[in-house]
Amino acid sequence: MALLTWKDAYSVKIKQIDDQHKVLIDMINELNDAMAQGKAKDALGAILDKLVSYAASHFALEEGLLQTHGYEGYQDHKDKHVKMTAKVLDLQRQFKSGQAAMTIEVMNFLKNWLDKHIIGTDMKYSAFLNSKGVQ
Ligand SMILES: [Fe+2]
Ligand SMILES: [Fe+2]
Repeated sequence: MALLTWKDAYSVKIKQIDDQHKVLIDMINELNDAMAQGKAKDALGAILDKLVSYAASHFALEEGLLQTHGYEGYQDHKDKHVKMTAKVLDLQRQFKSGQAAMTIEVMNFLKNWLDKHIIGTDMKYSAFLNSKGVQ
């Protein structure tokens, strides 16, 4: 069963960004399924690596759009990405070093990490970017 499901409330009304958020949701679900199936550490690590690198490129895309269009909350949004990235890199490091296992708690952390950011932070630029013709 999917840990996280796309819903209309996640839509920032920008196709490329919604599509990327869907990919991030898929990756979290893939990791959750792999964990639930008891897949080996290397397999879980590979999915986590993919998630980390996709998130980095997604954050860069958002930051580029916000900067290009002169969004006033740009720095604050970027700071949130930096903090999210630091947390997930820390998780990746702990997992790889064997200090942490992939658990339901970790999966819930990743789920909330994405859900809260889309709803609480990404949503704030939606109307602004739409008003600049970004759809
Ligand atoms: Fe986002
Ligand atoms: Fe964001």
